[in-house]
Amino acid sequence: MSKTHLFDLDGKIAFVSGASRGIGEAIAHLLAQQGAHVIVSSRKLDGCQPVADAIVAAGGKATAVACHIGELEQIQQVFTSIREQFGRLDILVNNAATNPQFCNVLDTDVSAFQKTVDVNIRGYFFMSVEAGKLMRENGAGSIINVASINAVSPGHFQGIYSMTKAAVVNMTKVFAKECAQFGIRCNALLPGLTDTRFASALVKNDTILNAALQQIPLKRVADPKEMAGAVLYLASAASSYTTGTALNVDGGYLS
Ligand SMILES: NC(=O)c1ccc[n+]([C@@H]2O[C@H](COP(=O)([O-])OP(=O)(O)OC[C@H]3O[C@@H](n4cnc5c(N)ncnc54)[C@H](OP(=O)(O)O)[C@@H]3O)[C@@H](O)[C@H]2O)c1
Repeated sequence: MSKTHLFDLDGKIAFVSGASRGIGEAIAHLLAQQGAHVIVSSRKLDGCQPVADAIVAAGGKATAVACHIGELEQIQQVFTSIREQFGRLDILVNNAATNPQFCNVLDTDVSAFQKTVDVNIRGYFFMSVEAGKLMRENGAGSIINVASINAVSPGHFQGIYSMTKAAVVNMTKVFAKECAQFGIRCNALLPGLTDTRFASALVKNDTILNAALQQIPLKRVADPKEMAGAVLYLASAASSYTTGTALNVDGGYLS
């Protein structure tokens, strides 16, 4: 009996935003391990280059590219260069997001509101539009949006962030419905509390952490690597009949 090739990504080009650390870095490594050429991206090239170098040192294929997804011109520029360099894109992982303010909803600052919307909604949207245009030319593609459990159950003092993550889940269904005809699938991942810099204010505070663990049946936070397997499923032929879904990887929190 031969092993399955359902999870192989040989010959695929994958773009991962926010791949310089945390969940995005873990996703970049796993997609490369499965054969994809991974475009490792975040705002800072010097954060992405070591991740791309580590992938290449391990025998994989990777390129580091800077792109602030809150800046529309940078999105345009990065897709111009993907078109020139690769001529195609098979997998987009919209993973980079922001959560600049932790406060009661009544204290939401308008600049924090704007930044969160610009990155988490507008950024994901126009990254998906540009990727979708390239994927349409090829008649195939997979877009994976990293949302959050906060999309379903708003996090304490994370009002605008939670609202943008709910928008990402709806956006996922929009692209799934309208782009299926072009061979493009679009799915969302809803991570639970994961041990990264992003979540350090929650994970490193014993009071907050213990309160959070009460609500997680598996009684621990996730390692970033535990998010990557679900993304590989959604990126690969293993999920060829899955589109428009929101996959919880949350230790049972939303159950
Ligand atoms: N950690 C959790 O508990 C948790 C739970 C649910 C959902 N999530 C989601 O998981 C995703 C990844 O979070 P993480 O925990 O891995 O965060 P992280 O460790 O802080 O990493 C964030 C990444 O995004 C990049 N980034 C930030 N703003 C950006 C922008 N405007 N444009 C492009 N890149 C940007 C950062 O690099 P630069 O600084 O170089 O830009 C970094 O590579 C996010 O969508 C987050 O909402 C996380």
